Amino acid sequence: MLFTPLVAAVSLAAISHVAAKPTPKPSSTDNLKPMTQIELGPRPYYLVDNMSDGPLKAKLSSCRELKMRPSSFSIAHRGGAPLQFPEHSRESNLAGARMGAGILECDVAFTRDLELVCRHSQCDLHTTTNVVDVPRLNAKCTQPFAPASDGQPASAKCCTSDFTLQEFKSLCSKMDSFNASAATPGDYLGGILPWRTDLYNTCGTTMSLKEHIAMTRALGLQFTPELKTPQVPMPFRGNYTQQRYAQQFIDTFKEAGIPPSRVYVQSFLYDDILYWLQHEPAFARQAMFLDSVADLFGMDAAVANLTQYKEDGVRYVAPPLPYLVTARDGKIVPSEYAKRAKQLGLKILTWSLERSGPIAEVHALGDYFYGSIQDVVTRDGDIYTLVDVLARQVGVAGMFSDWTATVTYYANCFGLGL
Ligand SMILES: *[C@@H]1O[C@H](CO)[C@@H](O)[C@H](O)[C@H]1NC(C)=O
Ligand SMILES: *[C@@H]1O[C@H](CO)[C@@H](O)[C@H](O)[C@H]1NC(C)=O
Ligand SMILES: *[C@@H]1O[C@H](CO)[C@@H](O)[C@H](O)[C@H]1NC(C)=O
Ligand SMILES: *[C@@H]1O[C@H](CO)[C@@H](O)[C@H](O)[C@H]1NC(C)=O
Repeated sequence: MLFTPLVAAVSLAAISHVAAKPTPKPSSTDNLKPMTQIELGPRPYYLVDNMSDGPLKAKLSSCRELKMRPSSFSIAHRGGAPLQFPEHSRESNLAGARMGAGILECDVAFTRDLELVCRHSQCDLHTTTNVVDVPRLNAKCTQPFAPASDGQPASAKCCTSDFTLQEFKSLCSKMDSFNASAATPGDYLGGILPWRTDLYNTCGTTMSLKEHIAMTRALGLQFTPELKTPQVPMPFRGNYTQQRYAQQFIDTFKEAGIPPSRVYVQSFLYDDILYWLQHEPAFARQAMFLDSVADLFGMDAAVANLTQYKEDGVRYVAPPLPYLVTARDGKIVPSEYAKRAKQLGLKILTWSLERSGPIAEVHALGDYFYGSIQDVVTRDGDIYTLVDVLARQVGVAGMFSDWTATVTYYANCFGLGL
């Protein structure tokens, strides 16, 4: 008993030491090949056990001993495993792939030397990497770290465009979090939600788009890159226009010899979709418009806009979960948006499952992704009720998730995207 805390203290010190002096890891694809042993871990089985009795639980229970396969219905978000792994890291991607994701995501932003890298937002390096804790690089941030003081929260703003590719690659990837009361840069890296974990937070490997493509190809999987909307005025550095950025993004796939049929490009910026429709029709065939219109203008506007997308030649819309479902008589049912998109013959993908933590908390406190069904979800098993409505009633073609095993299990059980 006496020795336990001492041992823990020693090993914690060792971990901090490692975290403080990260050694960039090579991100070679030499040893990667398609994964045949798909491992879902206990979570899907736990979720099924927690469902209320009925035909869906019975069906999902009947798949317990299936040998699982990768499914293109199961799309890795932020790597595919950021429920537990540093986001957009190589490690998150490998975990997402091991859990059967058929499509891997790289959200794309540009560096100061105009290279493309994977990050959830151009200016989130202060919350998704250790940058503020590396003095030489923190100094280059748009806004270097400032400690909490006089009731003001700690702050920083660090963008991929503040750094060269080489500098970006020297950073450690971590889960999206910050500690608003931080007095030191090291403390600012904290604040990870308790239902995530620091277990794998041991300097996740940051990736360029080229590395992400090489990795995904070696794994034999498909690609879903998102062109992140710039957070700096465009054109950047004189002549780097939005169109050049959108073109470079496509060119990176062409140069790697990836056929457009294996690539699902995404953007929230409708002009990017229009640009691809005009200049890169082969890639535009599978382009997803990430719809956030209801957040800005209300759901009626979002529904009304669908007609325009169809007329413009858009084939895939990808709204967040709450646009597609609503609650009626205590049940989850398809929304007007879902019905209209289907009626128009638009293909639908959605995001992001498994980003919200325990459902009891979601029910009590609310959460963006369950915003339209908060009252009717009360326990973790309800996650599969939602997945089932989306898959079989809304008819989504795939789902982004932060823990791909959950979607992979459903997809295998119902024979989707295999
Ligand atoms: C599901 O989990 C909740 C806690 O979130 C628990 O109260 C409930 O009893 C569980 N239900 C089943 C069927 O396991
Ligand atoms: C947040 O920062 C404060 C002040 O530096 C520190 O005392 C606290 O332990 C930190 N919390 C976490 C969760 O890192
Ligand atoms: C952009 O400007 C840089 C430096 O002024 C120049 O070297 C480069 O060729 C220009 N690129 C394009 C596409 O115009
Ligand atoms: C959707 O609708 C809003 C409000 O009606 C409009 O301002 C916006 O431009 C539309 N968005 C797109 C992408 O067409």
